[in-house]
Amino acid sequence: MRPSLRIGYLGFGAYLPPTVLTNHDLEKIVDTTDDWIQRRTGIQERRVLAKDETILGMAVAAARQAMDDAGVSPEQIGDIRVGVNTWPRFPSLATQLQAELGAKNASASDVSAGCTGFVYAVEGAHNKILVENLCYDRDLVSLVVGVDGLSHAVDWQDRSTCVLMGDGAGAVILGAVERGGILATYTHADGRYGDLLYSDTAFETQWSTNGSGRFSTKQTIARPYLRMDGRKVYSVAVRTMVHDVLHVIDKYNHGNPDPIGLEDINFLYPHQANLRIIESVAKKLDVPLERVYTNGIVKFGNTSTASIPIGYLDPQARPEGSRRTGLEIDVAFGAGFASGAILRKVV
Ligand code: ACO
Repeated sequence: MRPSLRIGYLGFGAYLPPTVLTNHDLEKIVDTTDDWIQRRTGIQERRVLAKDETILGMAVAAARQAMDDAGVSPEQIGDIRVGVNTWPRFPSLATQLQAELGAKNASASDVSAGCTGFVYAVEGAHNKILVENLCYDRDLVSLVVGVDGLSHAVDWQDRSTCVLMGDGAGAVILGAVERGGILATYTHADGRYGDLLYSDTAFETQWSTNGSGRFSTKQTIARPYLRMDGRKVYSVAVRTMVHDVLHVIDKYNHGNPDPIGLEDINFLYPHQANLRIIESVAKKLDVPLERVYTNGIVKFGNTSTASIPIGYLDPQARPEGSRRTGLEIDVAFGAGFASGAILRKVV
């Protein structure tokens, strides 16, 4: 049975740090060229956090813009979920965001699902809003943020990873809508691929070997850096993103008297990992590139869990400042591997 309540996006926000790092800047840091980076990834430039900027600051800026856009006050937010991979400590980034916003009525938690964190967070927020409404007759408004500061996680001497990443944040407000909204979500994980894309472990805790029964903590490396087998990630990413787009459509069609097909999808927001991955996914799905978000990877690099919500406000996806209407799909893939897709109707 399909619930009558529709849940969708009420507002959007994004934040990109002003500092631009071009491929030519990177030529001075590692042994690379603008030509190599553009041919292999499509990236021209990315944004990076300045010394006085923080991951929390990016999340706050994107969240505030989304709240303003939705006309929602901090007190009205009942749930905060933050997709993030680069927040280095506890308590969670979401709780710190809650405090900064003064969202005193909200629950708050981080979602760790690689570059798919935003998709997982939207799915979780959507489901919570539904349950709170159907079971407890409570109207809930959620804030979902995707944010990452990958410039703090890459090894700036490793040319195979540092040229790919950028920093940024995107946010949405979710709540009841009269028309359109989220039609179906799908998430999946396959942890067998955990050693293809991961961060180092910086500390190890060991039992003492002298029989004293004491713990000792050893620092194994100076900093935990992002590591990746790019070639292997590439092929699984393309296959999985194609599968997830088709699967979320199948899920929506299950028992639906009004099924849809790929040809009905007006716009696709793939996670911005690499332009070649995006082009391969579009080609396999036979979706023309004009109907696919690509500007994020070119201008902002791979901003991980922030890349899809940043795209919602990008002029490429919002021609002349207005939103497109029709069916849209978000699809993401990242470390874990964790992947997923959201089918939405924009009215
Ligand atoms: N500049 C110049 N040369 C480089 C650079 C660089 N920045 N990086 C690597 N190379 C060299 C390598 O050393 C290698 O040299 P060799 O042949 O002498 O050994 C050569 O380029 C080829 O290296 P590959 O890693 O095989 O290059 P590939 O064509 O696979 O491209 C890339 C690398 C761009 C990372 C690609 O594998 C890829 O896009 N993978 C997808 C992974 C991805 O995008 N991950 C992002 C995070 S995960 C996510 O968001 C889903």
